[in-house]
Amino acid sequence: MLNLGRARIQGRQNRSMSFEGSDYADQKKNNDHTGKIVLVISLTAMCILVLKQSPTFDTPSVFSQHEPGVTHVLVTGGAGYIGSHAALRLLKDSYRVTIVDNLSRGNLGAVNKIFSENAFDAVMHFAAVAYVGESTQFPLKYYHNITSNTLVVLETMAAHGVKTLIYSSTCATYGEPEKMPITEETPQVPINPYGKAKKMAEDIILDFSKNSNMAVMILRYFNVIGSDPEGRLGEAPRPELREHGRISGACFDAARGIIPGLQIKGTDYKTLDGTCVRDYIDVTDLVDAHVKALEKAKPNRVGIFNVGTGKGSSVKEFVEACKKATGVDIKVDYLERRAGDYAEVYSDPRKIREELNWTAKHTNLKESLETAWRWQKLHRNGYESSSFSSSSLFSAY
Ligand SMILES: NC(=O)c1ccc[n+]([C@@H]2O[C@H](COP(=O)([O-])OP(=O)(O)OC[C@H]3O[C@@H](n4cnc5c(N)ncnc54)[C@H](O)[C@@H]3O)[C@@H](O)[C@H]2O)c1
Repeated sequence: MLNLGRARIQGRQNRSMSFEGSDYADQKKNNDHTGKIVLVISLTAMCILVLKQSPTFDTPSVFSQHEPGVTHVLVTGGAGYIGSHAALRLLKDSYRVTIVDNLSRGNLGAVNKIFSENAFDAVMHFAAVAYVGESTQFPLKYYHNITSNTLVVLETMAAHGVKTLIYSSTCATYGEPEKMPITEETPQVPINPYGKAKKMAEDIILDFSKNSNMAVMILRYFNVIGSDPEGRLGEAPRPELREHGRISGACFDAARGIIPGLQIKGTDYKTLDGTCVRDYIDVTDLVDAHVKALEKAKPNRVGIFNVGTGKGSSVKEFVEACKKATGVDIKVDYLERRAGDYAEVYSDPRKIREELNWTAKHTNLKESLETAWRWQKLHRNGYESSSFSSSSLFSAY
């Protein structure tokens, strides 16, 4: 678990991080006894300081108490692509933030411990396995992870009186609607295990809300692209997920020569240039929608919102934008249609504009891809060189 905080009314606060089991001290052999004594004293002082900041020390941590004017948000899946961007934005806006992610396997006891040692006001629940292709290969993993994580989050929120939930859902819950654009009223008929499990998680939340006064916002994202404009974060899926990856990842891999080129499946759809059309949304706009949802969430109310631009771009347009952004003439092979792909998907963003006063301000295919490419070029191995290790956890498959 990683606690990061700034109080909204108090300005910047000390940050306290806890990486269980990762403390270490580097000691050199040294004949100078005085030097050793000084080192021991400094280390002891440092340990006391760290302990003093830890929630288990006598003085209660700021994270363990509700504070008027301060909103403490638990970000599940905060080590992932969207969750990490959301955490960064929340910190910028002076929210108090705690991140949970199961980089290693976890258990329910850990979740309870986290909730009992922290006073959360809200949870943004991003944690999930999230690749359509992988979900068709490992459906049980997807059903288990997505539904049971949501159950655990809800049960623990209820047990600890946490009042607000912002849930990451997806346009994959709509399946292949006959009519475009997709509104929040469009029937949800998902066609793959990922979309079906996400719909199940939504149903669990909706049923729970009927007898709870929790404030709930369900955000259904369309296709997320881009990365932090200041270059601090990017999208770095693990190499084994490459084959299931999203189109931006594939474009960047092709531009870097990791894969020989791109394969576009289907050129005879009833779209302007014959390739599939999707609604791409920049991650900066997406996290902005989360902050607005958090601000507008009300007890006893469930808000459901599409998060997209309302404008589709074709795969061909995407690839051209990617070529411009990377400066690489990516090799493209045009193949037959792939079963299960649908021609056109784009949102109707009217509801989120009218009710949350949100519109996509940063989404521009070429610029979003340029920003993401800058990060990709500087981080060829993703976050691999980073010295972080984490053991924070909850229900794992
Ligand atoms: N990326 C998109 O285009 C997109 C579109 C629609 C919806 N979403 C949703 O947004 C959310 C975040 O997606 P992302 O693209 O950032 O994915 P990601 O894979 O980058 O991040 C997900 C994070 O959740 C963590 N996680 C998974 N299972 C967990 C568990 N049992 N306990 C704790 N942590 C766990 C992972 O370690 C990972 O860090 C997901 O819920 C996904 O379904 C994403």
